Amino acid sequence: MNLAERRTPFREYESFIPDVDAFYESLNTPLIRCLRVNTLRITPFDLTELLQQRGYGVKPSCLAGYLLEPDGSERPGDSLEAGLGYFLSQALTSAIPVMALDPKCGQFVCDLCAAPGCKTTHMAQLMNNQGLIVANDTKEKRLRALQHNVKKLGITNVVTTSYAGQDFPRRRRFDRVLADVPCSGEGTVRFLPPSSRRAHRTAQPYLPETQRNLLIRAFDLLDDNGVLVYSTCTYNPDENEGVIQHLLDNRPAEVMPIGISATHSPGLLRWKDRDYDRQMERCWRIYPHQLNSVGFFVAKIRRGSSPK
Ligand SMILES: C[S@@+](CC[C@H](N)C(=O)[O-])C[C@H]1O[C@@H](n2cnc3c(N)ncnc32)[C@H](O)[C@@H]1O
Repeated sequence: MNLAERRTPFREYESFIPDVDAFYESLNTPLIRCLRVNTLRITPFDLTELLQQRGYGVKPSCLAGYLLEPDGSERPGDSLEAGLGYFLSQALTSAIPVMALDPKCGQFVCDLCAAPGCKTTHMAQLMNNQGLIVANDTKEKRLRALQHNVKKLGITNVVTTSYAGQDFPRRRRFDRVLADVPCSGEGTVRFLPPSSRRAHRTAQPYLPETQRNLLIRAFDLLDDNGVLVYSTCTYNPDENEGVIQHLLDNRPAEVMPIGISATHSPGLLRWKDRDYDRQMERCWRIYPHQLNSVGFFVAKIRRGSSPK
């Protein structure tokens, strides 16, 4: 595949991607997953020592001490420590929506599109297994993978449901809601062979409507002082800023600062012929070359002080 073909899927985004050459370079570099230490079972220090004894080198990531990056070619994914649930392998940037949401011990949390549970299990460990997480997903098979992860990691504060998220019952409100919605997944193309990239990007034109409905229900599930995080692993503004704009136009919502520190780009204020609210600058766009991981979009939202 020549350079022009490699650029084709993302050409329309080149005007807003910072350092486009570094972006394309990163797509041709294998993704290295990080190890999220299961702090319910072991400390980062003790896991690092155990892995070092087995010949696996790891070092703390730039995001958090419990997110470790392998420093060599050996991957500990098949190790005894993985099987024992001492860590879960994940993309580093998958941690950002959860860190932004910042769930606390004892809170009532809804994970609207939860399977296979990478973020559910991360939240459970930040909550020290206290409070309750309702992990919802439409796909039974993926929920089974979530339940497997929950069990393996020794998590006891998760129950599962399988509603269409946009119809999730409004029987009670939540302190925290995560809407890590289905998306076109452009940010994960590092996982795919180059020949699959074009089809991957254009496959699902119905997504923005589903995402808008999921975000509206996520907002309606929020307690008065609750916080919501919307995330995708895609670059398409119609699935990101366009969805947040729809929420701002229809609900008394306010975009908050993400509240953590990492290299990122702000959300867009304009795409094609659409202007977006200035609050979009508080959203994060993360490109794969910025944190050597996969691409993500993250928005943190609460009820605004004055209804529209
Ligand atoms: C990006 S994945 C979620 C990944 C998950 N949050 C994690 O960190 O492991 C999106 C999920 O949404 C689910 N899904 C798709 N449509 C849905 C809907 N209408 N309501 C709820 N879940 C849905 C899919 O089955 C998929 O598991």
